[in-house]
Amino acid sequence: MLRKLPQVLVPTCTRTGGALSAAPTPGQQAIFDKEFKYGAHNYGPLPVALARGKGVKVWDTDGKQYFDFLAAYSAVNQGHCHPRIVETLKEQSETLTLTSRAFYNNVLGEYEEYMTNLFGFDKLLPMNTGIEACETAVKLARKWGYMVKGIPDNQAKVLFAEENFWGRSIAACSSSSDPTCYTGFGPFTPGFELVPYNNLAVLEERLADPNVCAYMVEPIQGEAGVIIPDDGYLQGVRALCDKHNVLWIADEVQSGLGRTGKRSACEWEGVKPDIITLGKALGGGVFPVSAVLTSDEVMLCIKPGEHGSTFGGNPLGCKIAMTAMDVLENEGLYENAQKMGEILLGELRKLPKDVVDVARGRGLFCGVEIKETESFNAWEVCLKLRDAGLLAKPTHGHIIRFTPPVVINEVEMNQCTEIICSTITSFH
Ligand SMILES: Cc1ncc(COP(=O)(O)O)c(C=O)c1O
Repeated sequence: MLRKLPQVLVPTCTRTGGALSAAPTPGQQAIFDKEFKYGAHNYGPLPVALARGKGVKVWDTDGKQYFDFLAAYSAVNQGHCHPRIVETLKEQSETLTLTSRAFYNNVLGEYEEYMTNLFGFDKLLPMNTGIEACETAVKLARKWGYMVKGIPDNQAKVLFAEENFWGRSIAACSSSSDPTCYTGFGPFTPGFELVPYNNLAVLEERLADPNVCAYMVEPIQGEAGVIIPDDGYLQGVRALCDKHNVLWIADEVQSGLGRTGKRSACEWEGVKPDIITLGKALGGGVFPVSAVLTSDEVMLCIKPGEHGSTFGGNPLGCKIAMTAMDVLENEGLYENAQKMGEILLGELRKLPKDVVDVARGRGLFCGVEIKETESFNAWEVCLKLRDAGLLAKPTHGHIIRFTPPVVINEVEMNQCTEIICSTITSFH
């Protein structure tokens, strides 16, 4: 039986905060209709059709300007069409794009050296998307479990935090606690178990199982609604994984690369995981690039032929990733995300409590919980924000994530907080 989609795919006028949200123009409606007719209905996009982007701003097909407060789920941290990243894309795309790993290319090694030095790991394994990086990390951990920890064949267990999100492959569905992700897609991958997020006591009990090879967790849970664990949680995870000889996999696909105002969110607690997964902004918003970084001990468990990807490590992606990282490192973007995040969170915390229950964030990884009523919900708030020129999207129904590109400047941020505050207050 078909599952009902959570949001309206072909939008109509909706009642919001006592006013109607704008109806789409015929041009926009034609775009929605075409996707609806010819495309799979696996997303429920906000009704706006974009045609251009620059920095923090995007424009729709009618030329209306918006501030992008989703940043492609944090894949566009460096801003839309960053000139240096686009230049690298152009240059390398005219030189050499793909060789496959059947041969060496003259960029991959340079990229691996750059990234391992930057993040302080021995080795990198290149993939394309975030989900591939996470799947790779799980494979590495299982192999390490058998080869190094001495877990009996086919008995390895990987623990995941409840409410995790790392995509929707069969493996990711198998580790999900979200019924929308897993219902109707079984049977599931065995050897995956869930533990509550931000609960060191339960984690310790479960890590004591000698067949556990890894614990994979996001330092801040993104899709779950920007859930920030208690101070000391990551240090606790580090200590417990060390104590029980279990690998800690930090899924930094969304929380990493400047989103929280640091290179990785783990840095907030001064801890280093055994394996880190990166993606999204590693491709600078122009190309899918993901990576797994870890030690020799873990990485060398995998031998030729046991893992790979036709596109992983392609010279185009590697060059783009080096520029994307250089932009984050050398254009002051970590500091900027912290500074702009303080302004944003400060304003979000002032919002009326009868509309916004909770506002939280770290750097520019921010979210609010909307206190939904009969007359409005988070979706309606996002439609009103869109009308006012700012794009954001609900996650888990009532939470709105505010994650603009980390290049946003103070003038833009002040304009945006004005839009957010006046729109949300109009529901008060
Ligand atoms: C924490 C986390 N891990 C992994 C993924 C999967 O990344 P991708 O969509 O590039 O496969 C996501 C995607 O949102 C994510 O948020």
